[in-house]
Amino acid sequence: MDNLIGNTIIRLQETESTNNYANNQVQTNDYPEGTVFLAYSQTAGRGQINNKWESEPGKNLTFSILFYPDFLEIRDQFMLSKVVSLGIRRTLAQYIDDVSIKWPNDIYAGNRKICGILIENSILYGQIKNSIAGIGLNVNQEIFRSNAPNPVSLSILTKKQFDLDALLAQLLDGIDHYYKLLCSGNNKAINQEFESHLFRIGKIYSFNDETGPFDGTILGVNDIGQLLIRKESGEIRAYHFKEVEYINTPLNFKRQ
Ligand code: BTN
Repeated sequence: MDNLIGNTIIRLQETESTNNYANNQVQTNDYPEGTVFLAYSQTAGRGQINNKWESEPGKNLTFSILFYPDFLEIRDQFMLSKVVSLGIRRTLAQYIDDVSIKWPNDIYAGNRKICGILIENSILYGQIKNSIAGIGLNVNQEIFRSNAPNPVSLSILTKKQFDLDALLAQLLDGIDHYYKLLCSGNNKAINQEFESHLFRIGKIYSFNDETGPFDGTILGVNDIGQLLIRKESGEIRAYHFKEVEYINTPLNFKRQ
């Protein structure tokens, strides 16, 4: 089957943020679904919750994919995040070990962040009009200067340099694969695979919520994309983004 994602690639030498650029463009132009806006350099790359996204010009992949998931209910919007995360995870797993999806949508290699995803939905009359999925993948950058926690890149992990265009094509194929599953209503397969690759699922770790630090086990995510954690008390809580933090303490004697 033909690809839905990446048939049109708009290459920019420099822009503030590919998410902003894509968002401005879709207001006035008709771009097909799956159009990719890729920048060699971003002057104001954005991360989640107003963070900056650090990326040395020409070293990494910074791009945004335009989706028109009009078949998706607003309450199911986290499915798109799963699709994008799974596509990236699958591609990276060809090159490095221990690639997982850190809820809600970071890609981790071991305990280090290799990729961040920023999905922005335009909602009109209670329906998703378009979604812009911004992806920042650390590829050939070796030194990170910002205070981002634990950044890592493909080249740090493999001691090799990567061809950015070839890697982009693989990532787009990966995302295309899972997006087609979503388009065909195969949510079950997506959910199962997402949970099987969820960072720290199924073992006891330390977290922090509004009640303070606690130990608990990630059970998965619910239908609306909240993280489910069973606390040691037995209580199961569902968290929205930023309501819970992972704590990186070494495992103590109690833990598996
Ligand atoms: C995060 O982990 O906080 C999300 C980072 C998302 C970065 C990408 S780079 C391409 C796109 N344009 C942006 O300004 N941000 C996203």
